[in-house]
Amino acid sequence: MIAFASDHAGYGLKKIIMEYVSSLGYECTDYGTYDGETVCDYPEFAHKAAKAIMDGTCDRGILFCGTGVGISLAANKVKGIRCCVCSDCYTAKLSKEHNDTNMLALGARVVGPELAKMIVKSWLDASFMGGIHEKRISMLEME
Ligand code: RB5
Repeated sequence: MIAFASDHAGYGLKKIIMEYVSSLGYECTDYGTYDGETVCDYPEFAHKAAKAIMDGTCDRGILFCGTGVGISLAANKVKGIRCCVCSDCYTAKLSKEHNDTNMLALGARVVGPELAKMIVKSWLDASFMGGIHEKRISMLEME
């Protein structure tokens, strides 16, 4: 199950990408916001999706705001979440292979729908490589 969330700025791209990810055969759940008109606050929706990953309801998540920055910062406040904003396929792929990201953030005012689809596919198709990267990821949890 893939968790989706956005603010108003990310809403339109979220709908497009949810439909695309569904067409790839994944189940999707939308944690809001549910319209693109009402101005809202991205942390509320980032937290809902992030919590769904940490409680096991969803396997990973894809987030959207204007730049992808705010909503990724909010998601990373939830312990165990590793989220990065990506504007290119290479970073998206490597963020899974090396950093085992469990959330991906996209900026709806930065990337167009077709590039966003390629970025998302690169991330969904990638697998964590483990090995030396395990230790580095565990070090991220140090207080
Ligand atoms: C909303 O205007 C915008 O600030 C938000 O979507 C996001 O880009 C913040 O990081």
